[in-house]
Order: sequence, then structure tokens, then C-alpha cells
Amino acid sequence: MTILVTGATGAVGRHLVPTLLERGAAVRALTRKPADAALPEAVDVVGGDLSDASSLGPEVFDGVDRAFVFPAPGVEAFVEAAVAAGVHRLTVLSSLAVAEEFPRDRGSASQVHHGAVEAAVTARTDAWTILRPGTFATNLLAWAWQIRSGAPIRAPYLDSAQAPVHEDDVAEAAAVALLGDDLVGEAIPLTGPAALTRREQVRTIGDALGREIPLVEISAEEFRAETAGYVPEAVTAMLLAYWSDTVATPDVPRPVTPVTGRPGRTLAQWAGDHRIDLGG
Ligand SMILES: NC(=O)c1ccc[n+]([C@@H]2O[C@H](COP(=O)([O-])OP(=O)(O)OC[C@H]3O[C@@H](n4cnc5c(N)ncnc54)[C@H](OP(=O)(O)O)[C@@H]3O)[C@@H](O)[C@H]2O)c1
Repeated sequence: MTILVTGATGAVGRHLVPTLLERGAAVRALTRKPADAALPEAVDVVGGDLSDASSLGPEVFDGVDRAFVFPAPGVEAFVEAAVAAGVHRLTVLSSLAVAEEFPRDRGSASQVHHGAVEAAVTARTDAWTILRPGTFATNLLAWAWQIRSGAPIRAPYLDSAQAPVHEDDVAEAAAVALLGDDLVGEAIPLTGPAALTRREQVRTIGDALGREIPLVEISAEEFRAETAGYVPEAVTAMLLAYWSDTVATPDVPRPVTPVTGRPGRTLAQWAGDHRIDLGG
């Protein structure tokens, strides 16, 4: 069985690839920069752009049964080419926003983008599995510079509580979906095992690094002003709506355990795994 992994050089893909290899699958990885991929030797690395059908030559799909679909902008081109080449079994990285569990989700940047990716897949094959993670713990790496330098983190809604998911748990759920047959036709929400306030998230990272991280609460207005120019407005709006909602209504954890058979990794584990990225 050859499994094609897109997004193989990303945070999820870098754990998915070795997990599939350990479990006996042959893995082909698609990247725009094969020379820089630095993937395990057993992987067949091919070049291609998910948004450009003309870059997806026969070497990409030859002998492939199943694929992990990374939701890059324009990935519809890849989905169409994969199905035309006979790859019907697709596991898609999507987002919990598509479930529209809260009014804030409808029309949000994530719901619009990932909803279109899901639709591109489900319109072309019945053999899909959709993974819908909530907020990734890796989003906290946005504070890596402040954490390393000792500058205070300036953030709004510090008493809001989210359940960030470890990228390795998303990868392991993807491996289960790709290797077995039990999850076909399922859209699966995935979060971390516990909701923590943003204050607690920063404290958890500080504990892993053995030092206190200075934190200053700012208003939504200040956040908007400080991120203008480098965070798209629609993303800022989505983040502020998420954080303000989760002050009164914390994230309800949707653990990965029923899929992976293992407890979800805690934020403390995540922080330990990323000590170096965080300057520890
Ligand atoms: N952040 C969140 O809270 C959250 C929540 C729910 C869902 N998600 C989804 O999860 C994604 C992040 O996953 P991640 O952390 O594993 O990603 P990541 O670390 O940002 O890596 C991005 C990967 O996508 C590949 N890629 C991007 N555009 C491509 C293209 N046009 N053609 C081929 N490959 C392309 C890159 O490959 P090369 O550079 O090697 O080509 C790389 O492997 C988000 O983009 C979002 O869709 C995120």
C-alpha cells in the first residue's frame, strides 16, 4: 500500500510520515521543494504544487491507493488530479470551524476555506475521512520571539479557555484513518485533552522552560492595531471572536482517544516537545 502524504514537511506531516512508515506503509511525500524536504530515507519524495495540476506528473500518483490531503489554498487542483488518477481514498485535514457549532464559525476565514476543501473532496469521492481539529498548540509558537527574548507577551482575553491540540495527535488520527477502513465517511472533531485559560497556557509553557513568562492583557482594539499589516483582517476577526466567546464558554474538549486509542497529549507535553523552539 503506497500512501501519498501532502503537507509532509509541515508540523502534522512530519509526525504522520514516520508513523505510517513504522506501521508498515510505503510513503510518498509531495513537496514544492524536494531538495529541502529532509524526510526519512524510506520516503519517496516527489515535487509538485497542490494548487497547480500541471505540476502533478504521473510519478505523483503512480501506485498510490490513499492520500492525506493538506488544505493548501487551491488544493482543489490536487484533489481533482488525484481522483482522476484513481486515488479515491482521501483523508483531509480540515478545521472544527466547518462544523459550525457556534455562530462565530459561520463565514469565518477558517470555515470558508476548509468548507470549500471538504466540498471539493466529498463531491469527488465517497471514501473520505475528514479530520476537524480545533485550535493547534503550534499557534502558541507565535509568542516564541517574546518567550525567547523575555519581552512581555501582549494578548487579549487572557481568561478565555481553549483546548489546544498537539500536532502529533492530529497526525496519529490521520494515520489511523489512512491505514484502516473504520473511519470512512466520518468527520471527526479533534482537540487537546483539556481547556486551559490563555494565562494557564502561558504558565504551562513557563513551567516547561523553568521560568516565569511576563504577560500583559491588552484590549481587542489594541490587538487589532498591533497585528494590522501582518495578520489578515479576517483572521484577526476570527481569533477575537473565538477568544471573546471562550471567556464565558470554554472549549469543550473532543479528545483524540476514541480514534488513536491513546490519551491526548497535554499542553505540558507539547511545551516540553517544543522547548528548543521556545528558546528553552
Ligand atoms: N492553526 C490552527 O489552529 C488550525 C486549526 C485547524 C486546522 N488547521 C489547518 O492545519 C494547517 C496547518 O498544518 P501544519 O501545521 O501541519 O502546516 P505547516 O507546518 O504550516 O506546513 C505547511 C505544509 O503545507 C505544504 N504546502 C503548503 N502549500 C502547498 C502547496 N501549494 N503545494 C504543496 N505543498 C504545500 C508545505 O509543503 P512544502 O513547503 O514542503 O511544499 C508544508 O508541508 C493550517 O494551514 C490549517 O489549514 C490549523
